[in-house]
Amino acid sequence: MKYTDRSKINRRTLIKKLGLYSGLLCLPQSIVAKEEDSGAKPKARQESSAPQKKLLSNTIPSSGSKISAMGMGTWITFNVGSNTELRDKRTQVLKKFFAMGGELIDSSPMYGSAQSVLGYSLGKLAYPKKLFVADKIWTQSTSEGPKQYQEIKNLWGVKKTDLMQIHNLLNWQDHLKYLQRLKSSGEIKYLGITTSHGRRHDELEAIMKSHTLDFVQLTYNITHREAESRILKVAKDRGIAVIANRPYDGGDLMDTYKSKKLPALAKEAGIKSWAELFLKWIISHPAVTLAIPATSKVEHMIENMKVLEGNFFSPELRKALSKEFS
Ligand SMILES: NC(=O)c1ccc[n+]([C@@H]2O[C@H](COP(=O)([O-])OP(=O)(O)OC[C@H]3O[C@@H](n4cnc5c(N)ncnc54)[C@H](OP(=O)(O)O)[C@@H]3O)[C@@H](O)[C@H]2O)c1
Repeated sequence: MKYTDRSKINRRTLIKKLGLYSGLLCLPQSIVAKEEDSGAKPKARQESSAPQKKLLSNTIPSSGSKISAMGMGTWITFNVGSNTELRDKRTQVLKKFFAMGGELIDSSPMYGSAQSVLGYSLGKLAYPKKLFVADKIWTQSTSEGPKQYQEIKNLWGVKKTDLMQIHNLLNWQDHLKYLQRLKSSGEIKYLGITTSHGRRHDELEAIMKSHTLDFVQLTYNITHREAESRILKVAKDRGIAVIANRPYDGGDLMDTYKSKKLPALAKEAGIKSWAELFLKWIISHPAVTLAIPATSKVEHMIENMKVLEGNFFSPELRKALSKEFS
């Protein structure tokens, strides 16, 4: 789907109709509080070196804990093997992630050397307290699940993990029982299931309705909105946190638009970058908890994390931007 410049077609009429002039398009958080934020009491932060600016966060429904609305993916970008120079470059990316308020890092046994590179980089950074470890069981074999979990802890260099997910619904019935045992024993805080590219949403929806999950992870971005019609609604109703993967559609969105001008509507709303447009559009959805863009570059990490500054988009702005890309 392509972005169409509708700036000349009734843009002002649309803005007037929606009652949205620039200042109003990104309403203060107190006014545009996302639904899931209401009533939930945030837990106290342990970190003393918290960033000075107020950064966007969302609530994990099952615990009421707040989490930074921007996480980090590691597929491809952290699969750099044992090359020390590349590992050190990824360490700098990670350092910037934490310095700018990041918490959740997502990985999987599917991502080659990514977990081991994370272990290396986190060791160099002395394991920042804010670290939220999200990894996955990715195997058809039931007996392999526990072995994979031990391996994950060894590779990351951690004693426990925060969130364990079942990658792409693989053998989910058996792995879910295992993750439930891990959660009961206090080994993990949260459990979840992942999918991507809009795949197997029927099955995911059925699982979400019939089992207790803390998180689901799925593809959601401005050009891939399949999750909106059912999955995001179910997540909201059932109190399941949502991680949006492929927020840049695997990089295609940035490749296509980065050299182009921002839509006039976005500029009028005070949006400063394509990163802000694409990522804030995702994390401003009332059911979405965080997005996990992956990057191998410090300058891209800065751009992505800057999106946490300011306010969430209003529902009206999200809707108007969606129309530009439909
Ligand atoms: N089934 C699943 O569980 C599943 C499936 C898919 C993905 N995931 C998770 O979701 C994460 C994110 O998805 P993804 O990695 O497929 O795609 P993505 O985050 O949508 O896109 C990653 C690409 O975007 C580029 N990029 C990032 N920030 C940029 C910026 N500011 N400007 C320009 N380019 C930028 C990166 O290139 P540079 O390195 O040059 O920045 C990279 O090539 C994965 O890493 C993985 O952790 C999970």
